[in-house]
Amino acid sequence: MTDQFSAATTAADYIHHHTPLRPRVALVLGSGLGAFAGELSEPTKIPFGEIPNFPKSTVEGHSSQLVIGKVGNVPIAAMQGRVHYYESHSMESVIFPMRVFARMGIKAVILTNAAGGISSKLEQGSLMVISDHINLQGTHPMIGPNDPRLGERFFDMTTAYYPSYRELAMREGKQLGINIHEGVYLAVTGPSFETPAEIRAFRTLGADVVGMSTVPEVIAARHMGIKVLAISCVTNLAAGISGEPLNHLEVMQTGERVRKEFIGLLERVIPMIAEDVKS
Ligand code: HPA
Repeated sequence: MTDQFSAATTAADYIHHHTPLRPRVALVLGSGLGAFAGELSEPTKIPFGEIPNFPKSTVEGHSSQLVIGKVGNVPIAAMQGRVHYYESHSMESVIFPMRVFARMGIKAVILTNAAGGISSKLEQGSLMVISDHINLQGTHPMIGPNDPRLGERFFDMTTAYYPSYRELAMREGKQLGINIHEGVYLAVTGPSFETPAEIRAFRTLGADVVGMSTVPEVIAARHMGIKVLAISCVTNLAAGISGEPLNHLEVMQTGERVRKEFIGLLERVIPMIAEDVKS
């Protein structure tokens, strides 16, 4: 896949062909957090494998489909599952869905993920609005020739996580009585969980949570001027903190446990974000 602009345009046209809805807000649902897609009314479900040029996820707990539907009156495109760098997808594939969103006319994206909690303020099941990130994936999704139709060669990341969306999510979360925090997400490639020494190092670096996704997508979204809100679900305390071994089942089960709070929060913030990007 060399010309991402054309490849993404083909995918966006395919999606538009299958639904009359024209969402301006998109949502990416991380491990164990896919249930929200079941809340959408008038859903059109398109498996990733059917969308031209779209990558496919192999991770358990990711349904691998795009659901286009409505939250109240608001049309939204929700990815149930995403692809990760550790699945041996190229960075280009990992961020391809963001390219497609941009070509669909998406102006704001809400990214969600499962993460390990490093900060002592966080508990298993806490939600954390991401305020900033540290990219330790050892690569960058925009390495390579820059296509000016997509964005600029050098672009700002000072307010990558849109400040007013962060405030909105914190306010609504608190109003709902959710255990909600704000902090820094550090991205690694995985697929192993970290070592306790790595977690101690990441804490020193200023990380509040650690995870294996989201950062490439945020970078790509910002490259194209899409506004970003990102929320982590702390599915487990990071390695070495509780002393217990980590496993993917725990990640899935915690996602399931916070499902109601998570759905409640998304139902509140989506209409407000849609209002922000309506024209
Ligand atoms: N580390 C990295 N990624 C994760 C974790 C973790 O502890 N939990 C969920 N995703």
